[in-house]
Amino acid sequence: MEKLEMLYEGKAKKVFKTDEDNQYIVEYKDDATALNGLKKGTIVDKGIMNNTISSKLFELLEQKGIKTHYIKKLSDREMLVKKVEIVPIEVLVRNYAAGSLTKRYGIPEGTKMDSTILEYCFKNDELGDPFINEYHIKAMKLAEESEVDTIAKSAFRINEILIDLMKNINIDLVDFKLEFGRTPDGEIILADEISPDTCRLWDADTHEKLDKDRFRRDMGKVEEGYMEVVRRILG
Ligand code: TMP
Repeated sequence: MEKLEMLYEGKAKKVFKTDEDNQYIVEYKDDATALNGLKKGTIVDKGIMNNTISSKLFELLEQKGIKTHYIKKLSDREMLVKKVEIVPIEVLVRNYAAGSLTKRYGIPEGTKMDSTILEYCFKNDELGDPFINEYHIKAMKLAEESEVDTIAKSAFRINEILIDLMKNINIDLVDFKLEFGRTPDGEIILADEISPDTCRLWDADTHEKLDKDRFRRDMGKVEEGYMEVVRRILG
């Protein structure tokens, strides 16, 4: 497996071509951003921790029948993945109120929702990833109706699996963000990452935050939070 030219550099990851037509290498960086890129910083060894957490979660999801872009973990910071075209939608799943939901609807942080909330954002940095619904997705041709159906069903199933998994390591899965991709065959599979950058994870007893909110809110002990998730997930 040879790592060829960089195709894309995002805020937290780089994507490289390989000598295999349908395989990419994702490299996880330590850079952290918040407030739509206004707040910038570094979380020491975040790339290593997120690659470890993401790899493990993709493996566990695959074992439960979820199709993902994950092939294998290559090194500390590198993951081999299937080539996909990212669907430009961020899929947000919420079990407890936090973050933008608390602001938008005035729900106190930590309120358990009576049922799972699914939301979509248009993946567009210049616009600040604005919220959209199924009608926007259809009208703007971001995805086919059948693809949105697949994405929604998959997101709910992933939520069930992750809630269980996190419960076993004494973590409440507050909310998280998913991205999906289209394979060259047109199949919709889970892509991107699942890590403390993209999830809110609270200790089930103390409600201590073990995720990127520690960075977003300058709470300190950011690395310690991520490391605690690594420790618990690797068991
Ligand atoms: P929010 O409360 O800011 O809308 O975020 C909900 C969840 O989704 C939270 O776990 C953070 C994650 N998320 C991302 O990973 N990337 C994003 O661009 C957004 C908006 C949220």
